[in-house]
Amino acid sequence: MNQNVRDPNMERIDNLEKANRFIEEQLKAIKEQVGDKKVLLALSGGVDSSVCAALLIKAIGKNLTCVHVNHGLLRKGESEMVIKVFKEQLSANLIYVDAADRFLDALAGVDDPETKRKIIGKIFIDVFAEEAKKLDGIEFLGQGTIYPDITESKGVKAHHNVGGLPPELNFELVEPVKFLYKDEVRVVGKALGLPDSMVYRQPFPGPGLAVRCPGAITRERLEMVRESDAILRDEFDKIGLAGKVWQYFTIVPPFCSTGIKDGKRTFEHMVVIRAVNSIDATSASVEEIPYKELFHIRDRILAEVKGVNRVLVDISPKPVATIEWE
Ligand code: XMP
Repeated sequence: MNQNVRDPNMERIDNLEKANRFIEEQLKAIKEQVGDKKVLLALSGGVDSSVCAALLIKAIGKNLTCVHVNHGLLRKGESEMVIKVFKEQLSANLIYVDAADRFLDALAGVDDPETKRKIIGKIFIDVFAEEAKKLDGIEFLGQGTIYPDITESKGVKAHHNVGGLPPELNFELVEPVKFLYKDEVRVVGKALGLPDSMVYRQPFPGPGLAVRCPGAITRERLEMVRESDAILRDEFDKIGLAGKVWQYFTIVPPFCSTGIKDGKRTFEHMVVIRAVNSIDATSASVEEIPYKELFHIRDRILAEVKGVNRVLVDISPKPVATIEWE
């Protein structure tokens, strides 16, 4: 049988009992494949890499080294959550690399969306490879590939937007969740005791907030995206939309409009709110956020996010629009 095809008889993992059975099987399989050798894994904090890491930690403990690269384009509190869960709660061997300046310096002045993606992908690989070279005795690369990655993008994790590791770092892959669909990965994550904020996390693009800071990224505008996103997430949590809406975020376009503050004219940025529902991201409909809640979110953004004087809502479905702005 093709080793990249899910066994049609494999049971659908839709409850904790089945997840626990899957976990036991995978722990055995990982131990058989890896033995007492060392595994390296890029841990973004997304559902797939987190579940993969948690499985590997359970199977081989300190023989797994996780590398979390902060590219400066993560959401507020994201790196802190990865460190808290993996280092403090799961006692993982975790290397945290703050590479924000390196990424943001390379992106300065670059306004083409695909060039931005390429720069982020390339530096990510460079940083990860540099960390890998510092370590001795790594023979395996853990990867949170899931089944749609195989069926839809020929085994390459599409959201990493990267090429591959340099040839001298061509480790054998360990991919314990590669036959699972996303909903199954979440059930396994839950069974492994990962927090809901990680297990039920909304999709987040590999290039992170870069695609929500359209045009050439400036640190000031990026901060506006990050702060407004944090407010939106906080409010969606409070009003119960967080668990219901598929993807929600803010965008700050690269131009200003006039406003008025303390009797003086301003020329500042605007925040765009986008909240959509989808099944597989190929199409999306717009969530109807009630106006009362929307006005409250608007008030918080205008009061708390420096440099913003206007709030808009994007009501465009996909198609004709895409979900992200770049
Ligand atoms: P679009 O904007 O194409 O997005 O409608 C569809 C889904 O894919 C996510 N997305 C990305 N994910 N790297 C990623 O890993 C990317 O470059 C990228 N661009 C879009 C987007 O958030 C949505 O869930």
